[in-house]
Amino acid sequence: MATLVGLFYGCAAALCVLTGSCLAQFPRRCATSEGLRTKECCPPWEGDGSACGALSGRGFCTEVLVSEEPHGPQYPHSGIDDRERWPLAFFNRTCRCAGNYDGADCGECRFGYRGAGCGEYRESVRRNILTLSVAEQQRFISYLNLAKNTVNADYVIATATRAEMGADGENPAFSDIDTYDLFVWMHYYVSRDAFLGGPGNVWREIDFAHESAAFLPWHRVFLLLWEHEIRKLTGDFDFTLPYWDWRDAQACDVCTDALMGGRSAFNPSLIDPASVICTQPEEYNSREALCNATGEGPLLRNPGNHDRGRVPRLPTSADVDAVVSLTEYETDTLDRFANGSFRNALEGFANPETGMAITGQSTMHNSLHIFMNGSMSSVQGSANDPIFLLHHAFIDSIFERWLRTHRPPRTHYPRSNAPIGHNDAYYMVPFMSLYRNGDYFVTNKEFLTPYLEKAQDIWQWLLAAGILGALVAAVVAALVVTAIKRRKRSQRRKLTSVYGERRPLLHSSSEEGSSSYQTTL
Ligand SMILES: *[C@@H]1O[C@H](CO)[C@@H](O)[C@H](O)[C@H]1NC(C)=O
Ligand SMILES: *[C@@H]1O[C@H](CO)[C@@H](O)[C@H](O)[C@H]1NC(C)=O
Ligand SMILES: *[C@@H]1O[C@H](CO)[C@@H](O)[C@H](O)[C@H]1NC(C)=O
Ligand SMILES: *[C@@H]1O[C@H](CO)[C@@H](O)[C@H](O)[C@H]1NC(C)=O
Repeated sequence: MATLVGLFYGCAAALCVLTGSCLAQFPRRCATSEGLRTKECCPPWEGDGSACGALSGRGFCTEVLVSEEPHGPQYPHSGIDDRERWPLAFFNRTCRCAGNYDGADCGECRFGYRGAGCGEYRESVRRNILTLSVAEQQRFISYLNLAKNTVNADYVIATATRAEMGADGENPAFSDIDTYDLFVWMHYYVSRDAFLGGPGNVWREIDFAHESAAFLPWHRVFLLLWEHEIRKLTGDFDFTLPYWDWRDAQACDVCTDALMGGRSAFNPSLIDPASVICTQPEEYNSREALCNATGEGPLLRNPGNHDRGRVPRLPTSADVDAVVSLTEYETDTLDRFANGSFRNALEGFANPETGMAITGQSTMHNSLHIFMNGSMSSVQGSANDPIFLLHHAFIDSIFERWLRTHRPPRTHYPRSNAPIGHNDAYYMVPFMSLYRNGDYFVTNKEFLTPYLEKAQDIWQWLLAAGILGALVAAVVAALVVTAIKRRKRSQRRKLTSVYGERRPLLHSSSEEGSSSYQTTL
C-alpha cells in the first residue's frame, strides 16, 4: 500500500473547523446572500481596502460581458443550467485586473509572474516524476497530503444550484473544502450532466471541458491553478507539477508505494482507504442534486485490469508523434466524432495513426483513464486519483509541443459553433477569476515550459538518498503537522495571500538538492 495512504488523510476531520466563516470555486468573500443578490463579486484587496485594489491601480469592478457566439447543436436547451454563459448565473460584475495582476480581488499575479508589482517573470519547468530525486518526490507527496488536509482559504464550493439558493440568495449553499478536493470538485462540476427538472431527468451530451476544443486549454488552466494554490499553501513558489511520461509504458510505472501508491496485498483495487468525492453521478442525477463533497469511500485503481478490447495497449512514442503531426486543431462537428482533429485524437476519441474518429475504443489521453480501471476511469470522479495530475501534465506537454510545431494563429481555434462552453471567448467553468478558452491556445512560453524536460539533474547525493529517505519522511511528516498549525494561526491573522509575497510554510532550506526542510516562520 502507498505512502499516500498514511499521509493522505491523516487529520482531515480536525481541520475542517479551521476557518470561521463558511462561505468557489467561488471566492469565499462573494459566496454570501449579499453576493448572490447583487451579483457582484468585487472583493476588496487587502493591500488597500478598495474593491479590486482599484486605489492601487490593480484592477476595477466592471460588468461581465459574455460571448454571444452560437454554440453547436449538442446541447439544445438554454436558461436551465448554471454553467450556461458562465459566470452570469451567479455574478454579472467581477474584478477586471490590470497589468499582470490576477485573482478574484486582483491581489494575486498572472501565471508566471511574481513580486510585489507582479513584474517579475519566472519560467517554471515541469519535470519527469521518475527522474526527480527521492527528496523531491517526497516533497511532492507531502504537498499533496498537505493540500488534502488543509481547508482552502480563498475558495468554497457550491452545494446547491443557483435556483435552490433562492431568487435573492436567501439560501446560500456553499461549503468549505480542502485544496485537493476543491480541484476534484471543479473537475466534477465542469463535466457533470445538466439537470432538466425532475429526478433523473438529465441531459448527458454536455461537458464544458471535454469532447471539444476547450479540452486542452481548460485542463491547462486547471493545472496552472493547481500549481498556484500549492504555491500559496506551501510558500514554495518554484513548485511545479511533475509529469508521467507514459509513452511505451508496459505498466503503471508510477504506481509504487513511494509515488502514487502500489497495490494492497488484500485488495488489488484498493489504493487508499479514505475518501474520494463526486464519484456517484447516477446518484446525483437521480436526486438532481450537486455533489456536495461528502466522502464516498476509498480511492480505487487496478491498472491493467481494464477491458483490453477497449484499450489494447498504452500509447506509444509513434502514436504521440503521429498525433502531433495532425495540422488541424478542430474539424467537422468539433466534438468527439471529429475526423483528423489533433484535439480529438489527443483526447482519445480517434485512431492516432489515421486521425479518424472511432467508437468502442479509447486511445491516447482516454486510454490511460480506462487502463487505471478505478477512480480514474469515470470522467466526473477522475481527479480524485493523483495520477490525474501527472497524466494531464504530460498531456499538456504534448499540447505544447503541437503548438510550437504548428504555430497556429488564434483563428484556428473555433470562434463559434463548438459545443457549449468550448468557443474561443467562452469563460471557463467554474473558475473565478475568469479565463477565456482562446487565451490559452498559445504556447506556454508565456507562463511556463513544461515540455518534455529530460533528466539532466541527478544530484550527487542521490546515492545517499535511500538512507536519508526514512529520515526525510519523518521530518516532512512533522513539518506538515507544524505547517498546518502555523497555517491555522496565519489564517486567523488574516494575512494577505498575494502570490508574490513570500510567506512560506514549508520551505526548502537551500537550493534544490538539499534533503532537509525547515520552516521559516
Ligand atoms: C446584474 O444583476 C443585478 C442583480 O440581479 C441586476 O439588478 C442588474 O441589472 C444586472 N446587470 C446587468 C447589466 O444585467
Ligand atoms: C450530501 O450528499 C450526500 C449524498 O452524496 C447526502 O447523503 C447528504 O445528505 C448531503 N448532505 C447535505 C448537507 O446535503
Ligand atoms: C475494470 O475493468 C473491467 C473489465 O476488465 C470492467 O468491467 C470494470 O467496469 C472496470 N472498472 C472500472 C472502475 O473501470
Ligand atoms: C468521420 O469519418 C467517418 C468515416 O468516413 C464518417 O462516417 C463520419 O461521419 C466522419 N465524421 C464526421 C463528424 O464527419
